[in-house]
Amino acid sequence: MVSRIAPPWVFEIDDLRKSYDGEKWANDGITLRIEPGEVFGLLGPNGAGKTTLVKQVVGLLAPTSGTIELGGYDLVADPDHARQLCSYLPQAPVPIESFKVHEAIELAGRIRGGEKSTVRARTEELIDDLELEEWRDTLGAKLSGGVRRLVGFAMTIVHPAPLVILDEPTNDVDPRRRRLLWERIRRLGDEEVAVILVTHNVLEAEKSVDRLAIIDDGRTVAEGTPSSLKAADRDLLRLQVMLTPGVDDPALPAWLRAEARVGNTLVTTVSEPDVPAGLDWAQGLMTEGVAEEYALGATSLEDVYVRLTTVEAVAS
Ligand SMILES: Nc1ncnc2c1ncn2[C@@H]1O[C@H](COP(=O)(O)OP(=O)(O)OP(=O)(O)O)[C@@H](O)[C@H]1O
Ligand SMILES: [Mg+2]
Repeated sequence: MVSRIAPPWVFEIDDLRKSYDGEKWANDGITLRIEPGEVFGLLGPNGAGKTTLVKQVVGLLAPTSGTIELGGYDLVADPDHARQLCSYLPQAPVPIESFKVHEAIELAGRIRGGEKSTVRARTEELIDDLELEEWRDTLGAKLSGGVRRLVGFAMTIVHPAPLVILDEPTNDVDPRRRRLLWERIRRLGDEEVAVILVTHNVLEAEKSVDRLAIIDDGRTVAEGTPSSLKAADRDLLRLQVMLTPGVDDPALPAWLRAEARVGNTLVTTVSEPDVPAGLDWAQGLMTEGVAEEYALGATSLEDVYVRLTTVEAVAS
């Protein structure tokens, strides 16, 4: 059994398909390639197929068809090998009820084959990096959801395999520790580990990933660096209007593009030359009592994401 492979290696998924019921595709032909040192984001709405994808990578689910290879090893044919070559933080909480935080992290590192003193040192380093000192000797059963998530993350990377897969690591984590966690994920890339990071947090991912894929309905709808995905939006600005509750949707001028409607917030994009007219339009809505507030800002990866994954048509 091999648990280490020397860079350069590649991780490749080719035309991966998975159906749970033989009718609907949870993964419908996904192809991607990741190299050591890369932090790769996997984004997409609920039910898009992200967890299904990563469970096949780590050998917990068998694909219906397609291939998954890491450093030339066939992970589909050899799921045990997949578990050796991948460190995986599942979306579900880690079961660490009867262990103290530092014990759980150390044990995870030892099970992965880490040498005792190295694992000990790295455990303390991770407790420090993630500001978990307060809970170092607390039993898992007594931890809050966010702290348990961070401990699960530390357990996953204390002795990382070549490919680290994190399914929603920031869930339930407070903003300050979320930032620490993102910094730690970034540093994994510097350790020649490849990271697949499943997240809903588009704005944070934008700052931390090298590349990303947006998955919707089992398919890849976009893939590239954050800036390449935003390229089409370069001369666009976002004009967001907070509508007065209960009013009908306002008619939109032809030069304004409706992107999404979230609650009472109408998100539109406007090209630079049309900005003055856009601001007049938004001001007009305020005067008519149709809107309570508006804001103009730069477009972000979130706008690209919303455009690519919004199912419901919005007023136009
Ligand atoms: N064990 C299962 N049996 C049957 N269908 C499943 C199973 N797990 C997932 N699915 C279905 O497969 C599709 C993809 O689910 P998956 O959990 O991969 O989505 P996801 O992108 O991880 O979503 P989320 O962001 O909510 O975690 C969904 O339609 C889901 O209902
Ligand atoms: Mg999931």
